[in-house]
Formats: sequence, structure tokens, C-alpha cells
Amino acid sequence: MSTYEELSERVARAIAQQIKVKSNSCLGLPTGHTPLGVYRHLSKWSREGQIDWSNVRCFALDDYLETDEKHTFHYFLDEHLYSHTNLPAANKFNPCMTDNYDALIAEHGGLDLTILGIGGNGHIAFNEPGTCARSWTHCTWLNQSTRLANQDSFQDLASVPTRGVTMGLATILESRWIVLMASGEKKKDIVERAFQGPVTVEVPASLLKQHAKTDVWTDFSADYSFPSGATQTARVSL
Ligand code: GLP
Repeated sequence: MSTYEELSERVARAIAQQIKVKSNSCLGLPTGHTPLGVYRHLSKWSREGQIDWSNVRCFALDDYLETDEKHTFHYFLDEHLYSHTNLPAANKFNPCMTDNYDALIAEHGGLDLTILGIGGNGHIAFNEPGTCARSWTHCTWLNQSTRLANQDSFQDLASVPTRGVTMGLATILESRWIVLMASGEKKKDIVERAFQGPVTVEVPASLLKQHAKTDVWTDFSADYSFPSGATQTARVSL
């Protein structure tokens, strides 16, 4: 069990270590409240010159459609992370910039490490319950619960976009390493459903149990690692 601060630092260290071991790593990066602490640590270490982002490639997991610039996830990542680093503009990728995000990711060698949050209904990125397990990057309608959860960044619920574009479940599952982070009691039930219950597209995060190297780190429960039984030691040796 750890605090939000410890969880954030742990995930930030995993990213920093990944970049240290492979300077041209491809990262899949989330938005939302959960990763803010991670980005705070990474920004600080980057400003201190401890992380060199010059060869790193960053791929946003998802973004809204039909919203103003300030509400895009591209803007969010720029504000909370990219602008504090030496990541070249050409290495910042977003699913809205191309009609074949998966080909772009493949051209760059595939995702090495993808960080995920989890929605209250089990969504990962914007893959809502019922999304096809073999989905690639696609446009999607957002569930009302997702719009409600994200409402605080907008003036009112009506201003929250109804559609987004997201890496698909197949895109995410192709990442060589996945770390899902969850914080706060309100995520406890869905994390238990996803990682102790059956694998089902009704809880998209549960598909991660079939992935070759996924870690679930929270500030309210013990870790989960998939495939089950994988040791922590094996995981940190990248
Ligand atoms: C959003 C994002 C997800 C994020 C999730 C949880 O809808 N598309 O990538 O992981 O919701 O967000 P939060 O961290 O704010 O709980």
C-alpha cells in the first residue's frame, strides 16, 4: 500500500528508467487526474537535466474530438509534461494528427511502455465497455459516465465533447510493457472487477490480464502483475 505521492513517484521512476535504458523509447501517455503527480515528478527531473527526451517519442493515448484547443489532450500533455522537457516538437504524437496512428506507431518501432489510467466503468484510454478487443485506433462515442467524470475541466456538462479518438485495445495490448495506475477509493471496485474478475470487453481493463507484461499499481491495494506470478524483480529489469 502506498500514498498517491509514492505511486506517482514509482510510475515516474519507471518512465525515467525506461528512457535511460532505451533513449529512443516510444511511450504511450494518458491524461486525466491520476497521472498529474507523475508528470510533476518528470517535469521537475527534466528541468534539472536528469532526463534527456531528445530521442523519445510520445504518443497520446487519446483525445477529444470537436473541442477547443485548450481542452485537447495535446494541450494537456504540453502543459503538464512536454513543455518542461527537451522533447522535440516532431516527437509529440496525437491520434488526431493522422488517419493511421497505428502505422505511425509501428513506423517508430512500436510502443515500449504505455501508462494507463482507468475509468470508473473500466475504460482504458477512450475504449468504453463493449469495445472490440481487436480494435485499432478509432473514433468513439463517450459514455455519459465518462463525460460526467471529466466535466470538471469544462464549464458545464453540455460543453464536454461527446466523441473522442483513441488508441484501440489492440494498439494498447501491442505495447511491450503496460503500467496501469489507479488512485483513490473510488477506483477500488472497478480495479477489483477488472483484475480479480473475468476477462470481458464489458470491463476493457480486464483484457490486460492477457497481456505479456502488465503491472497494476495503486495507492489502495497490493500490486497485480500479469501474467500472474511474474516477479517484481523480473519486471524492473527492462
Ligand atoms: C479519461 C481518459 C483516460 C483516463 C480516465 C481516468 O476519460 N480518456 O485515459 O485514464 O479517464 O481519468 P482520471 O485519471 O481523471 O480518473
